Amino acid sequence: MPASAEIARTVGRHRQRIEDLIAAMTVEEKAGQLNLLADPFRWMPTAVNPLDGTGDPARVTALIRAGKVGSLFNGIGAEAGRRIQQVAVEETRLKIPLLFAADVIHGLSTIFPVPLAEAAAFDTDLAYRTARAAAVETAASAVHQTYAPMVDVARDQRWGRNVEGAGEDVLLNNLLAAARVRGFQGEKGLADRDAVLATAKHMAGYSAAIGGVEYNTTDMSEQTLRGVFLPPFKAAVDAGCLSIMSAFNDVNGVPASGSRKLLTDILRGEWGFEGFVVSDYTSEQELIAHGFAEDARDATRLAFNAGVDVSMVSGLYMEHLPGLVASGEVSMARLDEAVRRVLHVKAALGLFDDPYRGMDAAREKAVVGSREHIELSREAGRKSVVLLKNQGGLLPLKKTQKIALVGPFADDVDNVWGPWTIWGAPERRVSLETGFRAAMRDPQNLTVARGSGVETPLAGGIEQAIAAARDAEVIVLAIGEATNMSGEAQSRTEIVVPAPQMALVDAMAALNKPMVVLLRNGRALALEGNVKNAQAIVVTWFLGEQMGHAVADVVFGDHGPSGRLPISFPHRSGQQPYSYDRKTTGRPANPDLASEEYKARYRETTNTALYPFGFGLGYGAVTYGPIEMERDVLDWAGTLDLAVTVTNAGPHTAEELVQLYIHDRVASLTQPGRLLKDFKRVTLKPGESQKVRFTLNARQLGFIGADETYRIEPGLFDVWLAPHAQGGVPATFRLVGPPSISDGR
Ligand code: NOJ
Repeated sequence: MPASAEIARTVGRHRQRIEDLIAAMTVEEKAGQLNLLADPFRWMPTAVNPLDGTGDPARVTALIRAGKVGSLFNGIGAEAGRRIQQVAVEETRLKIPLLFAADVIHGLSTIFPVPLAEAAAFDTDLAYRTARAAAVETAASAVHQTYAPMVDVARDQRWGRNVEGAGEDVLLNNLLAAARVRGFQGEKGLADRDAVLATAKHMAGYSAAIGGVEYNTTDMSEQTLRGVFLPPFKAAVDAGCLSIMSAFNDVNGVPASGSRKLLTDILRGEWGFEGFVVSDYTSEQELIAHGFAEDARDATRLAFNAGVDVSMVSGLYMEHLPGLVASGEVSMARLDEAVRRVLHVKAALGLFDDPYRGMDAAREKAVVGSREHIELSREAGRKSVVLLKNQGGLLPLKKTQKIALVGPFADDVDNVWGPWTIWGAPERRVSLETGFRAAMRDPQNLTVARGSGVETPLAGGIEQAIAAARDAEVIVLAIGEATNMSGEAQSRTEIVVPAPQMALVDAMAALNKPMVVLLRNGRALALEGNVKNAQAIVVTWFLGEQMGHAVADVVFGDHGPSGRLPISFPHRSGQQPYSYDRKTTGRPANPDLASEEYKARYRETTNTALYPFGFGLGYGAVTYGPIEMERDVLDWAGTLDLAVTVTNAGPHTAEELVQLYIHDRVASLTQPGRLLKDFKRVTLKPGESQKVRFTLNARQLGFIGADETYRIEPGLFDVWLAPHAQGGVPATFRLVGPPSISDGR
């Protein structure tokens, strides 16, 4: 159901009550509704919210009683939730229920793959289902809102938060933003007992941080802002999202949390957003450090008037809004509008009908960590795995083989969840060792050694690893990044496997046995030396609590690898920022030449990817026939049908993701060398061929023009039906129509 219809339907009955409440509220009570504090009663996330500590329950209780708190975040639990809600509903003057929010990023108790991993499945239905399962657990744990999905489009792999997003492609981000919003909010309306309010974040441009430095400034064209960073927010809003979080960064000099253009003109004026905007953890206060506001009062004025309705953690709105309204610097109308938005969403969530929704301990126990959710976690995990290399068909391994599992993640459970896990059940975490032993015919055939720490050597580690590998037929290396190397505030200068682990890999390579690398990672990595040269390389990200089983499902062939990279793996760290959809330049380099002067490339490498966006192998061997097109002309109002026959020549079933890319050859503004426009998945039995069909229309071919509107220009286009962003079968067609069309989007 679209958000506006949802608001109209649910708020309908409460509209007058909300107006009466606003009329009855003091200015302090109004500011109170806009005050969001950390939950001091049920606080757990010390690792992810380090600045706040645990707060003071007595102080916050007094504030709630006085009507000075509208929402709390990052506390969960039905029973305690009921007690806190009782204070608001029974002990305050106006009896307005509190809104409880939480960072449920990839599961509440049942932990699913990190969002970047799940993006590798290129599967909107899967994203919907994991978000739905997370919502069921969240809603039953006295939480009404999640701070997800993060829809910041990846541009630079040094930036740590790419792990929380959907990768570097705009279309995939749009599709997954919508799927995740629908998954969290469900199909039955926000008041449904299994629905939670989604929050698309961080608006906007957070991932454009210069140099990949967390929280850094950004500098971008209007075309990049509107063509790359904003579309997933629009997709989230169109999918019914009723909450948006404003970002920490500035955009072209204006901090996002003080940007009227972003948070009011575009979000509301252009897109018709009807929910509320919440700041990101003191981001309104940070207008001072940005050098945009003079002091806390000024920061409040600027952020609030720009369109930030709710203040997270700082308490600034409570402190300064009453004075700002008294002086006329903030209008009462603006204050009422923000309060109305919050109360409308509370009404839509059913809180005015049942303030104790989701506060039933028996139901919480029944749905949290259910068998069904745990199975879904394993399914999502195996579908997120990406096979990069498989020389000589080394994989799948035989369940009877003698295997040495070596590396810091071999028997580790501390790094299976990945960043942004607060309420997972530690006892359910499955290590690779456990997953392997469960899959192998004789678990005794597995030897295990860590060999190295993640970033520091392990005394005697390499010797132990050599001993473990002595009798093995194959060495499986579990290496890469620990959980705390990606996520918020975890930017890296070199996106490589840390040196002590490389030393371990070198020692293993010297044994001259077949080697499989299982990468643990929250970003793309630049693979080097014996890692790059291993016979088989598998990207296993952070797959969530069932990680060991999910990886074993793929490694032993019970599930053929079907994931595709949602981010490009470059040759070198120094290529960042890198994404496949970059422009050709006036001097495109030939990627096949080792060196080439006066072209757009580095001395050491062409500016392509080692493993590009969209890349991923299966255990089959899929070949592409030529593109089939009946005509090579697309009329402005018509469609163009394209098809390709894909054949599995290999001995195993293969899942192929056929991707459609275009390149607008000539345009009034230069365009990306390739841009994904569609994709389709087919399953091919050994020897099987299938024709995969696509239909293009003119509206898919536009871009943000110099006038800042979406425009479609006739002319010549390249098109590829491809297994990834650097391959495929090409064709060209001409779009014919009016000289250029701007649809004013
Ligand atoms: C800061 C993060 O940027 C944001 O994504 C998160 O939701 C808030 N902290 C609350 O924990």
